Amino acid sequence: MSVNSIRRGRQAAVRSGPRLALVLTAVGALVVGTMIAFTPSASAGTTLGASAAERGRYFGTAVAANKLSDSVYTTILNREFNSVTAENEMKWDATEPSQNQFNYANADRIVNSARANGQQVRGHALAWHSQQPGWAQNMSGTALRNAMLNHVTQVATYYRGKISAWDVVNEAFADGGGGGRRDSNLQRTGNDWIEAAFRAARAADPGAKLCYNDYNTDGQNAKSNAVYAMVQDFRARGVPIDCVGFQSHFNAQSPVPNDYQANLQRFVNLGVEVQITELDIEGSGTTQANNYARVVSACLAISRCTGITVWGIRDTDSWRASGTPLLFDGSGNKKAAYTSTLNALNSGNPTQPPTTPPTGQPPTTPPTTRPPTTPPPGGAGCSATVSLNSWTGGFVATIRVTAGSSGTTGWAVSLTLPSGAAVTNTWNATASGSSGSVQFRNVSYNGRLNAGQSTEFGFQGTGSATGITPTCTVS
Ligand code: G3I
Repeated sequence: MSVNSIRRGRQAAVRSGPRLALVLTAVGALVVGTMIAFTPSASAGTTLGASAAERGRYFGTAVAANKLSDSVYTTILNREFNSVTAENEMKWDATEPSQNQFNYANADRIVNSARANGQQVRGHALAWHSQQPGWAQNMSGTALRNAMLNHVTQVATYYRGKISAWDVVNEAFADGGGGGRRDSNLQRTGNDWIEAAFRAARAADPGAKLCYNDYNTDGQNAKSNAVYAMVQDFRARGVPIDCVGFQSHFNAQSPVPNDYQANLQRFVNLGVEVQITELDIEGSGTTQANNYARVVSACLAISRCTGITVWGIRDTDSWRASGTPLLFDGSGNKKAAYTSTLNALNSGNPTQPPTTPPTGQPPTTPPTTRPPTTPPPGGAGCSATVSLNSWTGGFVATIRVTAGSSGTTGWAVSLTLPSGAAVTNTWNATASGSSGSVQFRNVSYNGRLNAGQSTEFGFQGTGSATGITPTCTVS
């Protein structure tokens, strides 16, 4: 996103003065009061992650490793979010500061914290013109191409099985009307550098979804058209791409476009998932709250918009803190934008189809949904069904837990994996054991289910999970 456009937005906000701010705050309080009074008809999650999970999606945030010792920060992080993205710690300069010498210390702190709290991890970003280590900035040609491919391979291999989706390539298209690639040292290695990166990432981690991620592509314009043409071409030629990330950094100069949902939909129509990857919206009060609700509603209206990540937790954590673009204020209090976001999530349809596996590894068997093996929703207890997507050597299982007539305050799902199969990654639940008999327990935000209400968790594994039969018990 252009720093100038952000600056222009900030100046406009400053010029509007305190009186306007007061009026906006008052109106904001009124509207938010109305939002709180509104009770959505669908089941209502009480946190962002819980509500998103009920709709088969994630709600994530960017995390900075050096804030994991801040208890206000971690309390919100682990209460509200079921997905995390390392804000800077997985970038090239952080993970390979010297050529072929890898440092995963800070990235691991984020990954370990996420896994301990049942959160999935988006990987950001393998290949990017920015935040390259100095040694790479000084390279070109074949040496740079090989160094980039080695980087993609090493990092994706190191985190194999722990990443739900990788931003394989970030921000490779130019701004403005040209509709072409951004000039960079990577681009100068040849136009095929992007597909080479995707192929290397697939080979290194066949279970992770592979995304192209960019900004100013949120509506239909020359830049998003160029990305669209690339995705269309990749799908036609079998280049492994599963998802497109829309950063969605918005402010007065770069507002939420009117065709936001239509733009997401046209990418979905190419056969990829879409994800909102770095959402922040400068502003305050009602205007900001309404803009967040628009974005969330647009994603929920598209079954293959699989999740939303906000780019930080508190306004003071933001890369553009003065624009107060996030859902919590500097003290960690929920803002009007938080309430409108949660209400928009809760207004979404709670039954959404499960997500699909990476397209480079097509399922060898059609997804199967098994009937409940434990008490049906009509009785007490809980029931569990599995939807399985398999490919040679691996699988993703999505388990749907439904509360019986008494509801749940916690649940556990047990199943036995066939010989040779092993769990490598779990989201929205905590696993005990990884092979043979495995038990999954709810995490903090999805244990409480009202009668008949459902939530989903998932796990990825190696080997085959054909025939697994989950049983659910309340705890
Ligand atoms: O850690 C050093 C610190 O030691 C030093 O004292 C300080 C001095 O400037 O810099 C610190 O590093 C900064 C780093 O953030 C951590 O705070 C870098 O200078 C600063 O450039 C870096 O900014 C990051 C930016 O990407 C870099 O391009 C932001 O945190 C991060 O939010 C931002 O994220 C990007 C996404 O990756 C891609 N899309 C756009 C998005 C927003 O710009």
